[in-house]
Amino acid sequence: MTRHLLRDDDLTPAEQAEILDLAIELKRDRWAQKPLAGPQTVAVIFDKSSTRTRVSFAVGIADLGGSPLIISTANSQLGGKETPSDTARVLERQVAAIVWRTYAQSGLEEMARGTRVPVVNALSDDFHPCQLLADLLTIREHKGELAGLTLSFFGDGRSNMAHSYLLAGVTAGMHVRVASPAEYAPRADVVSDAQAIAARTGGSVVLEADPVRAAEGADVVVTDTWVSMGKEEEKQARLRDLGAYKVTRELMALADPGAIFIHCLPADRGYEVEAEVIDGPQSVVWDEAENRLHAQKALLVWLLRQE
Ligand code: CP
Ligand code: NVA
Repeated sequence: MTRHLLRDDDLTPAEQAEILDLAIELKRDRWAQKPLAGPQTVAVIFDKSSTRTRVSFAVGIADLGGSPLIISTANSQLGGKETPSDTARVLERQVAAIVWRTYAQSGLEEMARGTRVPVVNALSDDFHPCQLLADLLTIREHKGELAGLTLSFFGDGRSNMAHSYLLAGVTAGMHVRVASPAEYAPRADVVSDAQAIAARTGGSVVLEADPVRAAEGADVVVTDTWVSMGKEEEKQARLRDLGAYKVTRELMALADPGAIFIHCLPADRGYEVEAEVIDGPQSVVWDEAENRLHAQKALLVWLLRQE
């Protein structure tokens, strides 16, 4: 049966762990698997800008023996004259999988409904599940067993990253804290989905307005830009509203002494994080960026096996 990754909870805890194990294997032996040899093509479509996602999918697809076809929607019919489902029907006869970075989650859902090849969310307004696979891989490398760790996210709790930390974090059995002002709190339906998963995995969800309480004893400290793609018009309000949630050296000092700092990048130094933190000894952001490659390769291998 065709499987898709549209949001983090499309994977069960066992499936998530299987993909992370495979990512570790592929990181050790980069050219060990060639499921796309032929070469088969994978379409990688961008409605929004990207550096890491574009490079890691292009390189990863080539590593797997395949050929990446990078499409910018500005130069395609998708989003203008053509619907996601018609686009999917055209692509599925020629490509092995479709990877898409877009705005509305509903577009991805429509694309997935319309096709028999796997569809991967490469970031939407609501979720960034590929980033989470890379982040969990990075946390596992630096902290070991994921279950039982406390991950604290600071900033825009309604962002794709906060939502993905909630779903993927509890799937891995982690305790996820989201520190944000009430008006930037995560969406209620995502919180209740995360709580339901946590009840099965032993993880937990805490929404916290006080950044100090959220930081105390954390194993993983996380933030993301305060101005996600598509929110540029709200920039001034966001800089004002989220100022108290900046990850500073003082905030890091409240976390566990062995805590790591992660950030999906790109980062705005001096806004959501101080330069001394992101460029400091607890930061593992460059490992995290590299792990996009290994995690997404594992994801593609796994998805192609399910067909
Ligand atoms: N973290 C991430 O997705 O980066 P890009 O926007 O550069 O792809
Ligand atoms: N929340 C950010 C993530 C960038 C990788 C955005 O959507 O712009």
